[in-house]
Amino acid sequence: MRTRTQVGIVGGGPAGLLLSHLLALRGIDSVLIEVRSREYCEARQRAGVLEDGSVALLRDAGLADRLDRQGLIHGGIYLQFDGQRRHIDFRDLTGGRTVTVYAQTEVVKDLIARRLADGGALKFSVTDTSVADLDTDRPVLRYTDEAGTRHEVTCDAIAGCDGFHGVCRPSIPPGVLATWERDYPYAWLGILADVPPSTDELIYAHHQNGFALHSLRSPTVSRLYLQVRPDEDIAEWPDERIWAELAVRFGLPGWTLQTGAVTDKAVTPMRSFVSAPMRFGRLFLAGDAAHIVPPTGAKGLNLALADVAVLAPALDALLHGDQTPAADYSATCLQRVWRSTHFSWWMTTMLHRTPGADEMEMQLQLSQLRYVASSRAAATSLAENYTGLPVPRADG
Ligand code: PHB
Repeated sequence: MRTRTQVGIVGGGPAGLLLSHLLALRGIDSVLIEVRSREYCEARQRAGVLEDGSVALLRDAGLADRLDRQGLIHGGIYLQFDGQRRHIDFRDLTGGRTVTVYAQTEVVKDLIARRLADGGALKFSVTDTSVADLDTDRPVLRYTDEAGTRHEVTCDAIAGCDGFHGVCRPSIPPGVLATWERDYPYAWLGILADVPPSTDELIYAHHQNGFALHSLRSPTVSRLYLQVRPDEDIAEWPDERIWAELAVRFGLPGWTLQTGAVTDKAVTPMRSFVSAPMRFGRLFLAGDAAHIVPPTGAKGLNLALADVAVLAPALDALLHGDQTPAADYSATCLQRVWRSTHFSWWMTTMLHRTPGADEMEMQLQLSQLRYVASSRAAATSLAENYTGLPVPRADG
């Protein structure tokens, strides 16, 4: 079946969904396709920290009703190392900036509900997706829908929001993209547990056994992570072993880690990756399709949202004959991408034990952590990066 839309969107994660909504607010039609089912997209566990700029973007776009009710505002984090837990006070260091703890899955649920309520074209569980004619004014999106019907959609532009393993980035001819990549020799074992958080703010813990993070989801649900080997077999981590290891890595006299039923358990690899430019002809890449950060610092979702906040007005201008914002799209986004890439790498390498590393790594990390915890300048740098750069407004 042959159809036509203004913007074809590949991928139903936060980037693709928010883009379809921002375009709809501008009166621009889109068709969004996603290989996974709606249920899968709404259950997929990811990080859960929104920068103030991301919250403002969602609020401006009319998407923050539940976020404003259920999001937990955090004014800092704890850094734990060398037997001490030190608070980094974002409000004090940055003139009042905060972050909001609200899970990515909840952002996705809110976006899907809103797009469907507004009559948006969201096609889940599609197969055989491909994009073509990207360097023409009429790029084409092809897919087979859930019922088995083949579709060919002629577009004015295509947004590749289909993640690191998606089809869009590999559809760009060889030689166009430059890429930069770091694989880290560790992964995170993440759990979701039905237990009230044992902390009021996130704890990032450096420990000789490896990094641990105590995050949260609600007054009754905690999210915790342990550094493990990249090839870790999750079967070797029964719940009791996870809680015991978490208790060791967060251990402090007079403080107890509450435990509870584990409802989700998964190992996440860690990678830094940037590809540039984020555009080829009329294909625009956004979010993980163009860049990946390791989760330390929780930048991935924020970068994806910031990309599409730049992309929506750029596509609007392009469709009305003004090429300039689209020409600037990649360079504008990459400034933020590289800042977050550096920050995430810095947090990651400061807090994780490299397998086989000598004692010097440990001493350098501890020195850096003591510096961040005691120097206002160093702490301000962390706070400013963690709370994020200003995000372009949806109407910008
Ligand atoms: C999370 O809540 O899942 C989370 C929080 C902070 C991070 C990473 C993940 O740096």
